[in-house]
Amino acid sequence: MDALSPDSAISVLASVVFDGPLRGDTLSVADATSPISCHSHNDYWRLRPLYSALELGCSSVEADVWLEDDDLLVGHLKVSLSREQTLSTMYIAPILEILNRRNHASKTGVINGVFESDPLRSLILLVDLKADGQAIWPVLNQQLEPLREHNYLTYFNGTDVVEGPVTVVVSGDTWFSDVVRNPTHRDIFLDAPLQYMDGSAAAMLEMYSDYDDVPADMIPDSASVLQLPVDRDEYSPANSYYASVSFMHSIGYPTGSRLSRTQLELIRAQIRGAHERGLKVRYWGVPAWPLGIRNYLWRVLVREGVDYLSVDDIKAAARGDWGPRKGGWNSKWWA
Ligand SMILES: *[C@@H]1O[C@H](CO)[C@@H](O)[C@H](O)[C@H]1NC(C)=O
Repeated sequence: MDALSPDSAISVLASVVFDGPLRGDTLSVADATSPISCHSHNDYWRLRPLYSALELGCSSVEADVWLEDDDLLVGHLKVSLSREQTLSTMYIAPILEILNRRNHASKTGVINGVFESDPLRSLILLVDLKADGQAIWPVLNQQLEPLREHNYLTYFNGTDVVEGPVTVVVSGDTWFSDVVRNPTHRDIFLDAPLQYMDGSAAAMLEMYSDYDDVPADMIPDSASVLQLPVDRDEYSPANSYYASVSFMHSIGYPTGSRLSRTQLELIRAQIRGAHERGLKVRYWGVPAWPLGIRNYLWRVLVREGVDYLSVDDIKAAARGDWGPRKGGWNSKWWA
């Protein structure tokens, strides 16, 4: 556990995050850091978007994007956007630069990822489409071209998923039809609805299929029914990477500071359903306060087999070992 111990993570942090140069040191930092299954929620709000997360080993970052004049601007609210803060300038170009530096001397033909200590680990770039999903699609597709032409993207080739240093996943205003349009080459994957993975959504639709008007509040997340299939068997690694849902919306707050049996059973059913379909599980909106509850939930989620912890406080996530995890030695939090 040497290189992985919380202490070494903290020393890396102390030496770099607070006073390190903005350029140049990134590679040496990533050299020392082992990737962890942490997803940097609203990553663009950090002091140094992308780099702060990479330095701590977070192997998944999230950017919210809006379509403005044929470009993808990054920000949480439309009013806070700026022309300089684009998906390309904040994420695609820096990732390309890191990967080019990692690979310029590579003679083996193997393409290295962003983490020196684990070069086969793919960095997940989650692009949350805040609006206009179908109009964003061709723009996003085109902006990924520099990564695509270097063969840096994970892709589905019609039969298999070939993993690359960057896996692009879309969430938010996404349409299944966009993702699966090309049957033989896909390099943008869905964030599938985790709330459908226990099968209850399909069962509920079935139940109401005799009625003309399905009461909207009887269908989980009714707005997305039109865009994303309710049948969980439609989802596979050929079209999706993550399966996620809001923790508060789907599971709810742990009243009495512990999850009830019903809540735990729902978590287990969702995780089982997603894993049976080859998808990675991530809950977002896990209560962040009080810290005791948050830490309890992180431990429960890791134990139950969640694949990524979606967090705002990446330092806290990187500092602790939130295991052990069910399922054996190779499925630990730090793996
Ligand atoms: C897809 O990738 C797999 C694994 O690399 C390979 O065996 C297969 O031949 C590829 N299929 C096509 C159609 O290229």
